[in-house]
Amino acid sequence: MCGIFGYIGKKNNAPEIVIDGLKRLEYRGYDSWGIATTSEEKGTEQLYVYKKVGKISEMRDTSAFPKSTLAIGHSRWATHGGVTDANAHPHWNSKKTLALVHNGILENYAEVKAELMKKGVKFITETDTEVAVHLISHYLESGLDLRKAVLKASARFDGRFAFVLFSIHSNSIIAVRRGAPLIVGVGKNETFIASDIPAFLPYTDKVNYLDDHEMVELLPEGPKFYSLKTGKSIEKRLITIEWQIEDAEKGDFEHYMLKEIFEQKETILRAINQDPEEIMELAKLIKNARGAFFTGCGTAGKVAQIGVYAFASIAKRHINFTPSSEFTLFHHFLKPETLILAISQSGETADVIEAMEVGKKSGSTLASLVNVKGSTIDRMCDYTLLIKAGPEKAVASTKAATSQISLLLLLAYASAGELDSGRKLLVETASKINDLLNPRYLKHISKIAQKFKKSRDIFIIGRGANFPIALEAAIKIQEVSYIHAEGFAGGELKHGPIAMIQKGTPCIVLVGDDETRPEIISNALELKARGAEIIGIGPVREAVFDHWMYVPASGIASPIVNLIPIQLFAYCLACARGLDPDMPRNLAKSVTVK
Ligand code: M6R
Repeated sequence: MCGIFGYIGKKNNAPEIVIDGLKRLEYRGYDSWGIATTSEEKGTEQLYVYKKVGKISEMRDTSAFPKSTLAIGHSRWATHGGVTDANAHPHWNSKKTLALVHNGILENYAEVKAELMKKGVKFITETDTEVAVHLISHYLESGLDLRKAVLKASARFDGRFAFVLFSIHSNSIIAVRRGAPLIVGVGKNETFIASDIPAFLPYTDKVNYLDDHEMVELLPEGPKFYSLKTGKSIEKRLITIEWQIEDAEKGDFEHYMLKEIFEQKETILRAINQDPEEIMELAKLIKNARGAFFTGCGTAGKVAQIGVYAFASIAKRHINFTPSSEFTLFHHFLKPETLILAISQSGETADVIEAMEVGKKSGSTLASLVNVKGSTIDRMCDYTLLIKAGPEKAVASTKAATSQISLLLLLAYASAGELDSGRKLLVETASKINDLLNPRYLKHISKIAQKFKKSRDIFIIGRGANFPIALEAAIKIQEVSYIHAEGFAGGELKHGPIAMIQKGTPCIVLVGDDETRPEIISNALELKARGAEIIGIGPVREAVFDHWMYVPASGIASPIVNLIPIQLFAYCLACARGLDPDMPRNLAKSVTVK
């Protein structure tokens, strides 16, 4: 959550560079934004801060910003304190010599704030962040240099966080990481720091990943790294990343969400066309573990549940599923022989990281399917398979989900000793998806969305591996259209939810291309008998459907194809309701707080 970006270099338009980069990070938080830079007045350096409620994408004219070779910026997803100009970052100290932006939560901020207030410090915001800048300032005044002051202040705080700051008295930017992502971009005579790579991708593809408990001093000529525990200098490896800037841009599409849905033509193939030995290695780990857990949050959690069905039916292997936010409650079942597979697009979700930390303490083997190479989860795992979906910027996860499902199916086939038939099925499925990812199909879905755009509720049912797809459908519809949506296992309806069905209630029925078909059709008939309007997704136009979203017959891969019309439907509902599907209210792409 929250986007951080900092620049120091030889160019004198640092504020412009930072604003431009923050626009590429807006998916991380977009309730307010701000930048801090230096400006020279009467021959001395002054702190210049501009911050504002609203979306940074609306900021067009940067000509009024001072010319400077250094700037830091932030796009906020509020945690402590309402969405106001004052609470937006950067925050500064009383003398206005230091500016700081922050991602994460300082859990004991109230205690530190009380101590500082006793010393006479005046606070002007409701944020935990302001406490950090005043504490660093306090240590500076006690005679410490900036690096030591930041080191000491970081040690005072509990929680997961990242800080980026500068003092007007030194030509450098200091950053620390303790649980929230920060990546250093190394250019020619310029250095960047950001919470995600797209911020600096137009300038460099050379990066250093900052690890937890590390500090970096950014200088125009390059970064210098230090341990946050000892203050001693450390060496880090420079890595070249594979992403291209076009991967992180909208291109001709109106929204990232639509672009990313359409990219599934290629991303599914990219996910499965991996080194067979690597697939087999992970499949064996899952097969041979004494107790295997799949875990993830939100969409990735629903994908993990699909994995449970896939392993049961294809590999005849029992897998436990626990949402990551509940995972620590099951720690006593984790043993050194246990395998935990985390599923995460960003590789930075706090609840997933916490689940993996618990697994690590128990000595369990940690594995992951992540999209972002070098992310925290990637680096903390003994084994990672990258899903290779390319940057996913829309808050609603789409292409990452189908890549993850495809890999889980492939792993289940590999565990059953049938890797080749799994690959064949998925290659065929990927080619059939072209039937769905075209303007004609989008228009058809859009017409159905127009009809239901004013609905109060939408219910979705599925059976078997299409049950988690029903849950995922509810997430997609809720998060971008704000229509109340709920997913159920088809057989669960008559145990309660069916009481909510009235004349005209829209119900989406996901028909699996397998043995669950007759029963889900019976469930659709039960809904229809109570007045529901049935939107059917399946390969055949069933008599019970009032509206039909065709999908190609795909056997055990039906969750993949069934998910595509759902993604398009959610997208079209959002557009029909005049909403921005890329930036849904209250959400952020990467949930780095618990
Ligand atoms: O980056 P992750 O896959 O770990 O993110 C997990 C969830 O926060 C994410 O899937 C969320 O539910 C999406 N916004 C749903 O579209």
